[in-house]
Amino acid sequence: DCMTSRQMIKLPGFIDVHVHLREPGATHKEDFASGTAAALAGGITLVCAMPNTNPAIVNQQNFSLFKECAKNGARCDYALFVGASSDNYHQICELAPEAAALKMYLNETFTTLKLNDMTVWEKHLSNWPKHAPLCVHAEKQATAAIILLANLIDRPIHVCHVARKEEIQIIKTAKERGMKITCEVCPHHLFLSTKDLSRIGYGRGEVRPILCSPEDQQALWDNMDIIDCFATDHAPHTIEEKDSEKPPPGFPGLETILPLLLTAVNDGRLTMDDLINKFYKNPRKIFSLPEQHNTYVEVDMDEEWIIPNVLTHSKAKWTPFAGMKVKGCVSRVVLRGEVAFVDGEVLVEPGFGQNVRQWRTRMTDEERLSLGSCEKINASFEHLDEELQVKIP
Ligand code: NCD
Ligand code: ZN
Ligand code: ZN
Ligand code: ZN
Repeated sequence: DCMTSRQMIKLPGFIDVHVHLREPGATHKEDFASGTAAALAGGITLVCAMPNTNPAIVNQQNFSLFKECAKNGARCDYALFVGASSDNYHQICELAPEAAALKMYLNETFTTLKLNDMTVWEKHLSNWPKHAPLCVHAEKQATAAIILLANLIDRPIHVCHVARKEEIQIIKTAKERGMKITCEVCPHHLFLSTKDLSRIGYGRGEVRPILCSPEDQQALWDNMDIIDCFATDHAPHTIEEKDSEKPPPGFPGLETILPLLLTAVNDGRLTMDDLINKFYKNPRKIFSLPEQHNTYVEVDMDEEWIIPNVLTHSKAKWTPFAGMKVKGCVSRVVLRGEVAFVDGEVLVEPGFGQNVRQWRTRMTDEERLSLGSCEKINASFEHLDEELQVKIP
């Protein structure tokens, strides 16, 4: 029957290194419980949550609050970002072992954390431990500027949501010169362009980076080998907010990324190896993420469906991909031996998710305090999970 003729395949639990779960501070848009339910429904078993919350995650105290929200709410595993502010570069290095990464915002977007002063960029690039991941929101000329600064002090950086031809080209050239740059691309920049704006609506279509020209979109596909990771930049806002006078930028994406990428595999635009490398292996390497044992996703490669106006789990209740025809769906997700998602239902409760940085932070708080200075903390950090540090050819 159709079940046996269907191509069901087993894939790793996918890793999304760029999600906004809106907690603390804006739980009407999303929270850990709803956002991680959406992740599981999308075949994602590990998320890295961004720090542009309210309050923003810029110090030890707010990081503790962030950890508490995640511990109580998360249904899938996670790691948590720390945000760079104009004056926290001396204090935050002590959070490096516990953080997913440091995030620096260099352009205007939905955040209070924009950094204008290049001397502050330099302080963060130098003070954050070299072996701890550091991510940048850097568009257009800012991409070139931050690559130069990072290269001058010889530290790796990861460029978020690359969207334009000029951005992927400068990254390509920097990689060719041996610079320690990695990057991610989002499904909305791969599958949508300015051509889709009239269908989506101009308010709802607001996102940073913006939807770009078809030429920019094509440049991403043409440089698939330069793209290290796929990430959603899941940035939910409510329909009321998106349809208001001043629509905030951001698209939800957790429940649609895998079906869109599986469609590209079915169409021969992407290989299964690309999918596994960019949405599982490279995220683990770049962010030093541990293996999740007994964790996998079963997908039906033959299921054809049309993305509906509203997906089930995110509080966003809209999607820019509505109406798009896809082939491939998530049928079951197993996380650390538990069936976490099956037949459209999320079966694990808030609190099931674990902070993967606590799996490897073997230091106790007492040990950490006795270490004292940032230099010592940084030195101890360098020995953790060395085999997972990103290797640049
Ligand atoms: C993000 C958000 O809403 O938090 N919005 C967006 O358009 N991408 C912020 C960001 O990632 O730049
Ligand atoms: Zn059947
Ligand atoms: Zn951004
Ligand atoms: Zn983002």
